[in-house]
Parts: sequence; structure tokens; C-alpha cells
Amino acid sequence: MTTLALKHVNKIFGSGLSQVTALQDVNFTSEKGTLTLILGPSGSGKSTLLTILGGLQSSTNGEVLINDVNVNHLSAKQQEQLRLNQIGFILQAYNLVPYLKVQEQFELVNTVKNDNLSEKSFSTIIDKLGIQNLLQKYPSELSGGQTQRIALARALYPNPDIILADEPTAALDSERVITVGQLLQDMAHIQNKAVVTVTHDTRLERFADHIYKLVDGHLTQVK
Ligand SMILES: Nc1ncnc2c1ncn2[C@@H]1O[C@H](COP(=O)(O)OP(=O)(O)OP(=O)(O)O)[C@@H](O)[C@H]1O
Ligand SMILES: [Mg+2]
Repeated sequence: MTTLALKHVNKIFGSGLSQVTALQDVNFTSEKGTLTLILGPSGSGKSTLLTILGGLQSSTNGEVLINDVNVNHLSAKQQEQLRLNQIGFILQAYNLVPYLKVQEQFELVNTVKNDNLSEKSFSTIIDKLGIQNLLQKYPSELSGGQTQRIALARALYPNPDIILADEPTAALDSERVITVGQLLQDMAHIQNKAVVTVTHDTRLERFADHIYKLVDGHLTQVK
């Protein structure tokens, strides 16, 4: 079984003169137990690819398969359940709730999903990311790098099979990049998850099993 697959995916925004082709005939697969990196410059289509991969937006044409199921054939409700139960998103906009303290962001997950990480596993992640002293703060009180690490913990907390990360290290210094790279690799190699990271941060290359390059919406595998 293939965990994630894109087959001949195109994404076109707008029409006429303002038309932008963000993805062109993209083919991609990702399996459990692997960390895949997609590298590309700003505007190359990384966020578009990642959000299509996780069913957050639809492709113009082509197939998007999650665990061999064509996402376009699912109802809105089924797509929502799939995202809730199987996919952990770390998005560029961080998706933290502004009026909740960090601790409460995690508690919120408990209200919609039961089988989240045990307290023990979660505190190991919190320790690794060095965010234990931030749990009583509001998102507005955090630096960019702190927000980024909390968004990562928040995505891992529901223990998803698939982790999709958009520039998870953009705001981090080199030491933290190693921590996050190692954590994402452990999620793949030890916890057997499918981890896909889109980034322009080449510091993450050493942690990846597979590497793709995205240039002007064209994807090619380089490792
Ligand atoms: N909702 C949208 N409507 C119109 N054009 C869009 C939309 N989203 C993205 N685009 C365009 O598609 C192209 C790819 O955008 P995308 O956000 O995927 O790039 P990116 O590689 O993630 O860039 P960055 O590194 O800056 O985050 C860009 O030309 C962008 O302007
Ligand atoms: Mg982006």
C-alpha cells in the first residue's frame, strides 16, 4: 500500500491573464517509515503541493491518493475525518488558536479526538523541543521559533500516521534545526509514520530518505 500519492496532478489558479500554473504534471509517492523532503524556492509551489497532498485544497486535475483512496471521491465529511484521524499538519501560518494558552491548544485536541499521545510520550516531545516553560503563554507572547516548535508539538500530539510539514524550520537556529530534523526522522524511522516536509532549508537534507526538487511547479526526484 502507498501511503500518499499524487498522479499527474496539475493546479491552476485564476483564469485568463492572471492565470498561474502552480503545479505541472506532478507525480509523487511517500511511504510509511520514510522522511521525504521537497526543496524549492519561494513561489515554486511547495505549500500548494503540501495542502493538496493532505486534502486541504483540491487539484485542478490528476489523482490524490491517501492510503490508496482517491481523496476526490470522498465526501466532505469523510475528508474531514481523514484529516482529523490520520494527518498532522504543520502549516506556514502555524494554525494556533490566538485566545488559548499553549497548554489549552493541546487540551482542545482532546475534545475532538480520544487516542492522542500518552502524557509520557508527549512530555518526551515537549522536552526535546524545549517548550515546557511556554505552556502557560498565549501565541502572541511567543517568538517565531517558539511558535514553530509549538506548532510542531501540536501536530504530533494526535499521533497521526501522516505528518505534513511546511517550512518547519524557517524560524529556527542551527541547533534547533538539528533537533527538529532528528525528531521528524524519528517519527518516520521509529514511529513508522510517513513524513513529508516542504522547505527551502537545505540543512534538513541530511535527515531525509528521499529528496525531491520543485522548480516552477515541476517536481523531480533527486534522491
Ligand atoms: N490561492 C491562490 N490564488 C492564486 N495564486 C496562488 C494561490 N496560492 C498560491 N498561488 C500562486 O501559486 C504559486 C505557488 O505558490 P505556493 O504558495 O505554493 O509557493 P511556495 O513554494 O509555498 O512559496 P513560499 O516558499 O514563499 O512559501 C505562486 O505563484 C503563488 O502566487
Ligand atoms: Mg509556502
